[in-house]
Amino acid sequence: MAIWKSLVVTAALVAAVADAAALRPRNNTVTSEALRKSLDIEALKSKAQILQDIAYSSPDKNRVIGSQGHEDTVAYIHDQIAKFPEYYTVELQPVPIRIGVSANLTASNQSIEVYPVSLAPSGHVTGPLVAIPNLGCDASDFPSSLEGKIALIFRGTCSFGYKVGFASGRGALGVIAYNNADGNLNGYSLSVLENATTPYIPTGGISRTAGEALVAQLNSGAEIIVDLTTESKTIATNNIIAQTTGGDPNNVIHIGGHSDSVAAGPGINDNGSGSLAILEIALQLTNFSVNNAVRFSWWTAEEEGLLGASYYVAQLPQAEKDKIRLFLDFDMMASPNFAYQIYDGDGSAYNLTGPAGSAEAEKEFTNYFTNIAKLNHTEIEFDGRSDYGPFLEAGIAAGGIAGGAEGLKTEEEVLLFGGAAGVQYDVNYHEDGDTVDNLNHECWIEMSRAIAHMVATYAQSFDSLPSKKAARRGTVAHKKTKTHQRWI
Ligand SMILES: *[C@@H]1O[C@H](CO)[C@@H](O)[C@H](O)[C@H]1NC(C)=O
Ligand SMILES: *[C@@H]1O[C@H](CO)[C@@H](O)[C@H](O)[C@H]1NC(C)=O
Ligand SMILES: *[C@@H]1O[C@H](CO)[C@@H](O)[C@H](O)[C@H]1NC(C)=O
Ligand SMILES: *[C@@H]1O[C@H](CO)[C@@H](O)[C@H](O)[C@H]1NC(C)=O
Ligand SMILES: *[C@@H]1O[C@H](CO)[C@@H](O)[C@H](O)[C@H]1NC(C)=O
Ligand SMILES: *[C@@H]1O[C@H](CO)[C@@H](O)[C@H](O)[C@H]1NC(C)=O
Ligand SMILES: *[C@@H]1O[C@H](CO)[C@@H](O)[C@H](O)[C@H]1NC(C)=O
Ligand SMILES: *[C@@H]1O[C@H](CO)[C@@H](O)[C@H](O)[C@H]1NC(C)=O
Repeated sequence: MAIWKSLVVTAALVAAVADAAALRPRNNTVTSEALRKSLDIEALKSKAQILQDIAYSSPDKNRVIGSQGHEDTVAYIHDQIAKFPEYYTVELQPVPIRIGVSANLTASNQSIEVYPVSLAPSGHVTGPLVAIPNLGCDASDFPSSLEGKIALIFRGTCSFGYKVGFASGRGALGVIAYNNADGNLNGYSLSVLENATTPYIPTGGISRTAGEALVAQLNSGAEIIVDLTTESKTIATNNIIAQTTGGDPNNVIHIGGHSDSVAAGPGINDNGSGSLAILEIALQLTNFSVNNAVRFSWWTAEEEGLLGASYYVAQLPQAEKDKIRLFLDFDMMASPNFAYQIYDGDGSAYNLTGPAGSAEAEKEFTNYFTNIAKLNHTEIEFDGRSDYGPFLEAGIAAGGIAGGAEGLKTEEEVLLFGGAAGVQYDVNYHEDGDTVDNLNHECWIEMSRAIAHMVATYAQSFDSLPSKKAARRGTVAHKKTKTHQRWI
C-alpha cells in the first residue's frame, strides 16, 4: 500500500514537473549582448524630438526647473516607466527648492542692477556694507561679527552657499555676491542645500564692475548703506526614482541622469541625451529578468548645484545607502565633437579616486570599450562635477562616461575619435543651439550600448565589485576639487 501510493505520487510529480518546465519562461536573465541589441538610434531620436517639443512649447523654450518644460519632462519620463507597474515601482520624490523671483538693491540710495539667487530666502534688509577679503571660502576670511551688516563677497573657488553660511553665522543680515566674470549674475544658485546651523539670508547677485566699484569706495573709507530686497518662492520639483520589482533589493545597481536643462535652450545633448538613453534602457530592460535590483533615477535641479541628487542622498538612511553597490551617472551622451570619456575612478590619470568599487567600474567600462565595442576611449577627471558627487561624498562607489562638454578636443583625441582639434566637444554646450539637429548619433548609440553593458553586467552579478564589507572599509580618497564647477 505504502509502496503503491508512493509510486503513484512519484509519477504524478514527474508529470507535474514536466508541465511546469514547459510553461516556465525560458531563462531570460538580462545579458549585455541582448540588452545592447534592443537599442535602436531611431527610438532614441524620437524621444529627443519629444523632449525638444516639450521645451519649445514651454514659454521660455527650455526645461529649466520650475518651468512648464521641466514639469512636462518629468511627467513624460514618469509616464513611460509607469506603463510597467509589474516591472517597476516608480516614485516621485518632491525636492523643495527656493528659486529667485526678483530683487532690488540700492547702495547710498543709488540703485544697482541685481538678480535674485536660487536657494536664498525672501527678505528686506538694510545696513552698512562690509567687503569680505579673499574669496570667503574660509571662516577666517570673515570678521568675528557682522551683526547688522551686509557682506559683499566675490564669486569663485567654492560654492556660494558656504560663503553665505559663514556670513550668516557671524550675524550678517544679507549678502551681495559679485561676479568674477563679465556680465551680470543672473540665474545664480547658492548650490548647496541650506544648513540648519547657519540658515541662508537674503542674497542678491551683481556684476563684477558694480562689485569692484563698491569695493573701491569702501577701500577709500566711505560708508555705504545698502538696501536689499529679495523675493523667492519655494517650488517642489521632482526626482523620479524607479526600481525593478525583481532582483535582490539589498544589492542595487543605481543608474542616474537628470531631467532639467539650463535656461539657454532645450538642453537636448545637455542632458537630454543621458536621461533618454537610460529611459530607453529602462524600457527595454522590461523584457528581461534581473538577479540584482536595478534602480533608475532622473534627478531634478542638477543645474542649480546637483540639488536633486544631493537631496536624495541626504534623505537616504545609512542602511539604504549600503544597499547601493554602485551608482553610475550619464549626462552628455551625444556631443557633436565627441570623445569617449570614462571617469577616472581608479585615479590613474588624475589622482582623484572614489570609494572602493569606483576603480572596478572604470575597469568594466574600459573592458567594454576595448574588448567588446573595440572603440578608443580616454579618461576624465573624477571630480564630482555632476550628480555622482553627492554619492561619492556618502561613500558610495560611482562611475560613468561622457561625450564631452565645453572642453577643447586635443590633436591626440582627433587621432582616436576623429572630429576637430581645438574645438569644443559640444559647441552648443549651455546654448540655444543644443537641439536635436546637433546630436552626434554615432556617439549616442555607442554610449547607450556602453550603459546597457554596465546595466546588464551588474543586474546579473556584482562578483566583479569588492564585497560590501570591503567597500565599507575602503577609504574615500576622493577629494573635492574646487575648480570648474559652473555653479560656483
Ligand atoms: C540564466 O542566464 C544567465 C545569463 O546567461 C546566467 O547567469 C544564469 O545562471 C542562468 N540561470 C539559470 C537558472 O539557468
Ligand atoms: C537716502 O535718501 C533719503 C531720502 O529719500 C535720505 O533721507 C537719506 O539720508 C539718504 N541716504 C543716504 C545714505 O544718502
Ligand atoms: C553646516 O554648518 C556646520 C557648522 O557650522 C559646518 O561645519 C558645515 O560646513 C556647514 N555645511 C554646509 C554645507 O554649509
Ligand atoms: C523690485 O522692483 C520691481 C520694480 O519696481 C518690482 O516689480 C519688484 O516686485 C521688486 N522686487 C522686490 C523683491 O522688491
Ligand atoms: C520587448 O521585446 C519585444 C520583441 O523584441 C519588442 O517588440 C518590445 O518593444 C520590447 N519591449 C519594450 C518595452 O520595448
Ligand atoms: C550635463 O552633463 C555634463 C557632463 O556631466 C555637465 O558638465 C553639465 O553641466 C550638465 N548640464 C547641466 C544642465 O546640468
Ligand atoms: C595624489 O594625491 C595625493 C593626495 O592628495 C598626494 O599625496 C600625491 O602626491 C598625489 N600623487 C601624484 C602622483 O600627484
Ligand atoms: C583608434 O585610434 C587609433 C590611433 O591611436 C586609430 O588609428 C584608429 O583608427 C582608432 N580607431 C577607431 C575605431 O577610431
